[in-house]
Amino acid sequence: MRQFNEDTLTAAVVERFQRGAKNPRFREIITAAVKHLHAFARDVQLSEEEWFEGIKFLTAVGQKCDDKRQEFILLSDILGLSMMIVALNHKTPPGATEATVLGPFFAHGAKEYGYGADLRQGATLTGEDVWVSGRVLSTDGRPIPHAVLDIWQAKADGIYDLQTGGEFELRGRVKANERGEYALKSYKPKFYSVPMDGPVGDLVRATGNHHMRPAHMHAIVSAPDYQQVITHVFVEGDPYLDNDAVYAVKDSLVGRYKKVDDPAEAKRLGMPNPFLKLEWDFRLAPETGQAGEKRARKKIAASDAIA
Ligand code: BEZ
Ligand code: FE
Repeated sequence: MRQFNEDTLTAAVVERFQRGAKNPRFREIITAAVKHLHAFARDVQLSEEEWFEGIKFLTAVGQKCDDKRQEFILLSDILGLSMMIVALNHKTPPGATEATVLGPFFAHGAKEYGYGADLRQGATLTGEDVWVSGRVLSTDGRPIPHAVLDIWQAKADGIYDLQTGGEFELRGRVKANERGEYALKSYKPKFYSVPMDGPVGDLVRATGNHHMRPAHMHAIVSAPDYQQVITHVFVEGDPYLDNDAVYAVKDSLVGRYKKVDDPAEAKRLGMPNPFLKLEWDFRLAPETGQAGEKRARKKIAASDAIA
């Protein structure tokens, strides 16, 4: 076949990929991608100059990536694609903690801690001291012993440790005790801007969108035989809760930081007085049957991919 035009080209490409691609799921994805890409070009009657601008943009996104900076995740986030994927893949089982965006600043290899972890150790900036505590529970209310919470958050200036190339700060793997209780010391998170010094920042400016994320603490909560959840705890009263640049806020994920002015309690917890307290339980749904086994395999694969 030859002599393709805008009416016949899509079917020809799809047919060729359908014949050649061996993996059925890959075949489904790549042929749908071709159909949608061609339809997009036709819809907007894309010019050669415009497509070249697009190629230059994607090239710049790739060039901005390194072992610390993931500009493609950021692109997916600000396009709302990351939250679309979360919505499609994480239908929250009743009573379980809702999932939200991972973001580009998760890192493997954070220090491991037990109950009472002090994530402020080595922090280059201080903030408002906060004691975060709660339980990791099954959706039926039973404690999950020794669940692991991967925690990370920005410093008081709204910058993540990875962005400045420093040591791990306000980040750690916190293991719950045998009663499923966890506790950690950190600083109250603050709202911040998504990174605006790269091509994705240019895109945000060009679309006239704002670039702020409401304050939050990230958590990935995992336990054998339970569905892992990638989530946030947002800060009640934050000015950006209703217009998060990456569409990740859910009402069930907004926590209250309460002021505690009690020298005896501060002493008991090893906190300065006064301090803030966030009480927050995470609830995980059990893995079930075959689907559960499949997800458990994916869980390992997904976390490896971010390394
Ligand atoms: C974050 O929460 O760390 C984040 C998420 C999306 C874009 C930028 C940062
Ligand atoms: Fe964040």
